[in-house]
Amino acid sequence: MANDLQNQIGNLQTTILPNVKHTIAVASGKGGVGKSTVSVNLALALSKLGYKVGLLDADIYGPSIPLMMGITGKPKIYQEQNTNKMLPLENYGLKLMSIGFLIDDDNPVIWRGPMASGAIKQFMSDVNWGELDYLIYDLPPGTGDIQLTLVQTIPLSGAIIVTTPQEVSLIDARKGLKMFEKVNVPVFGIVENMSYFIAPDTGNKYDIFGSGGGEKLSAELNTTFLGGIPIDPRIREGGDNGKPIVHDLPDIAESKSIIKIAKKLSEAVESKSSDNTDKIEIEL
Ligand SMILES: Nc1ncnc2c1ncn2[C@@H]1O[C@H](COP(=O)(O)OP(=O)(O)OP(=O)(O)O)[C@@H](O)[C@H]1O
Ligand SMILES: [Mg+2]
Repeated sequence: MANDLQNQIGNLQTTILPNVKHTIAVASGKGGVGKSTVSVNLALALSKLGYKVGLLDADIYGPSIPLMMGITGKPKIYQEQNTNKMLPLENYGLKLMSIGFLIDDDNPVIWRGPMASGAIKQFMSDVNWGELDYLIYDLPPGTGDIQLTLVQTIPLSGAIIVTTPQEVSLIDARKGLKMFEKVNVPVFGIVENMSYFIAPDTGNKYDIFGSGGGEKLSAELNTTFLGGIPIDPRIREGGDNGKPIVHDLPDIAESKSIIKIAKKLSEAVESKSSDNTDKIEIEL
């Protein structure tokens, strides 16, 4: 299986990097904190704000974008100057690419670190994204080899760290921040997911896991608190059904919290890029 995919991807030659203005990695120290959910809804929120947005599922072990974005299929492959290039799929106004589009559902990917890193590098450089304002990378959880390779081999404008309010998750988020520091990638801020619950009957807000963790961590690590996203069954259902809430229910408070985060992020990114207008060039 791994060889099949390696061959499939290996035939595609490395060419130019995507023509995108801002590339943002969505990371977390710990798994299951809602990175993919945040990536999908944040990408949709940025698109609602009028930006051209792409979303890249860099989680080769457990790709979730196809399911969450309600799309299956194979990317079109075409020749450009004797090189094979792939076109992203599209849904809900986003350009999408996932290793999940290239593998079969019933064949789990079992790769060891170096092989996986090589495949990702190749995969990254063979996609023709066209013109984009934002490319959001949904990273695999953790701070291991794959994440390090990813953040070192792709031109990142910066990263955001997703965390949940529990202390254990905050400790992991710290590790994530340190990883980006090590490779000189700026962290635009922290998003606290499953931050609170809004009771549907009363509209009251409940801090299920305690409050203020994300804000405290942001202050302590000298980064921005981008905002909190409530815990809500519709957020999970939206992911499971391929109808993300920011697309499907854009006017509910939960979606608005994500749109607010997208605004804050775009402000942070744009003020940063006006400080530094040099285009980042990285050789693969
Ligand atoms: N705010 C939320 N409210 C309710 N459910 C949520 C919320 N955020 C995420 N979930 C659910 O939690 C589960 C984990 O979320 P998700 O897959 O986005 O996490 P992840 O960090 O990408 O996980 P992994 O580390 O495996 O990549 C999913 O079932 C998702 O629907
Ligand atoms: Mg995920």
